[in-house]
Amino acid sequence: MKTYAIILAGGSGQRLQAEVPKAFVKIHGRTIMEHSILPFQKCDAVDGIILVVPQKYVEECKQWHKAYHKIEAVVAGGVTRYHSSMQGLAQVPHASDKVLVHDAARPFVDEVSIKACIAALDRYDAVNLLSPVSNSMVRMKEDKIEHAVDRNDFRQVLTPQAFIKECLYKAHLQAKNLPVETITDDFNLVLHFNTGTVTWVEGNTNNIKITYPQDLKIAECMLYKH
Ligand code: CTP
Ligand code: MG
Repeated sequence: MKTYAIILAGGSGQRLQAEVPKAFVKIHGRTIMEHSILPFQKCDAVDGIILVVPQKYVEECKQWHKAYHKIEAVVAGGVTRYHSSMQGLAQVPHASDKVLVHDAARPFVDEVSIKACIAALDRYDAVNLLSPVSNSMVRMKEDKIEHAVDRNDFRQVLTPQAFIKECLYKAHLQAKNLPVETITDDFNLVLHFNTGTVTWVEGNTNNIKITYPQDLKIAECMLYKH
């Protein structure tokens, strides 16, 4: 049984409006993708890394194996995050292997979170990484405020999320022919199709996802301090 990190970079990054796909934008001389790979490369609990990238970048990323030797496979992504995750999962050999699925757009993933997710897989089939909500929140309906909600009832979903391969694979298979557009992450698929036992661990609020141009500015400052 091995532990694999699948790093998803198959998206185009429409909201970021950069000239290259989001994961290939550079911060301080290194692509966002490489910043995201490094913590998994360094973590001794991770055996192998699988990259999911736009078709155009597959050959280029295969060369990265020289610098990040845990990279075992580089595959092309699909039309949605779900399809890209499926492509990555297909590279994981055994049903009992442990799998971490991570957004390449989160370059501040830390080793403590990675290890906490992996450790939780000793007792559960699926692990969500969550952080508290710091802003007040309201419920909206058709662009109008309905009422305020208690933010303590909510958590933000981060990545990596961790799974025993079989559990995630079963959920992916069931999702294949169903309209599940509202389910934007892998853990929620497992929850929806009830394919295994689930738990969560607390993540780091620094683990932001680079989505809009202003996030890139924040990330530049954060990485400068690193
Ligand atoms: N992703 C992927 N394949 C897709 C869509 C998304 O691998 N077809 C990945 C992205 O590369 C990213 C992660 O999933 O690392 C989280 O998605 P998001 O932040 O939405 O990235 P994009 O889809 O690229 O951005 P946007 O939605 O702004 O176009
Ligand atoms: Mg997207």
